[in-house]
Amino acid sequence: MEIIRDPAQIGVKIKEVKQRGDRVGFVPTMGFLHRGHLSLLEEARRHNDYVVLSIFVNPLQFGQSEDFTTYPRDMQSDLEKAKQAGCDLVFLPEAGQLYPGGYCTYVEVTGPLTETLCGASRPGHFRGVTTVVSKLFHLVQPDRAYFGQKDAQQALVIKRMVKDLNLDLEVVVCPTVREEDGVAMSSRNKYLQHMEREAARVLYRSLREGEAMIWRGERSSLKVAEKIRQIIARQDLVKIDYVAVVDSETLQEVEVIGSSTLLAVAVFIGQTRLIDNLTVTV
Ligand code: PAJ
Repeated sequence: MEIIRDPAQIGVKIKEVKQRGDRVGFVPTMGFLHRGHLSLLEEARRHNDYVVLSIFVNPLQFGQSEDFTTYPRDMQSDLEKAKQAGCDLVFLPEAGQLYPGGYCTYVEVTGPLTETLCGASRPGHFRGVTTVVSKLFHLVQPDRAYFGQKDAQQALVIKRMVKDLNLDLEVVVCPTVREEDGVAMSSRNKYLQHMEREAARVLYRSLREGEAMIWRGERSSLKVAEKIRQIIARQDLVKIDYVAVVDSETLQEVEVIGSSTLLAVAVFIGQTRLIDNLTVTV
């Protein structure tokens, strides 16, 4: 497994790989790898000849009061896991290289896809994501790029960007990987104290309850959202950021639940912000 830190070197390597006809699969991450990340690498390994992982904690997508400086990092363990997952190349750029002095170019998806849900709670977040991901796409030139359904809104925003900018690559969205008790894997779970980790189970539990209501025939999105809210509110340690029952493609609110609905929640447990979602098709 090769490691490249310098963005200038990536292009040379990728050219060589493409010249021999290899298909490139790419998994962008912020590191502190868990089984969710590894599932993306495994999927990339299955469908491509050459697999690239990037690890970069992107300052541009964190708000002023967010956890950029404390975001968990463990490079040695990440590299071991990447190697085990069959990764060919790890790209480890520095912020100063991706955003050198004088940097002033941004990629922004506008409209409801970035203004709702996490976009409303974290202004500028998706602009940071699309800017770094488009830079990474330019450097790595993947045939396929892999994202997790765990960040459902992010996956939709990236798909929109790829379409709007006519980027010649396929975006593959992979299922959310969960702990045994249902909690979605996240690098941020590391922040949780024992009692907080226990409380975090309520996210998936509330989503499953919302899903069950829909399966039982409920079609009022207000009622489903209210039920999810009530279940979460019973947990003292958990503070709701948002509960959304929206169309799974447009993220627009719907009064009457349609054929494919995204149930999405964001909460704070102490200082830690956690998100989770379920898509319900009827
Ligand atoms: P990060 O949070 O490290 O996640 C990297 C990728 O792993 C994302 O596509 C995310 O959706 C996926 N992922 C995270 N947890 C998962 C889980 N439990 N199951 C399945 N997939 C999961 O998302 C980012 O980094 C950044 O915003 C990035 C796209 C790298 C841009 O900086």
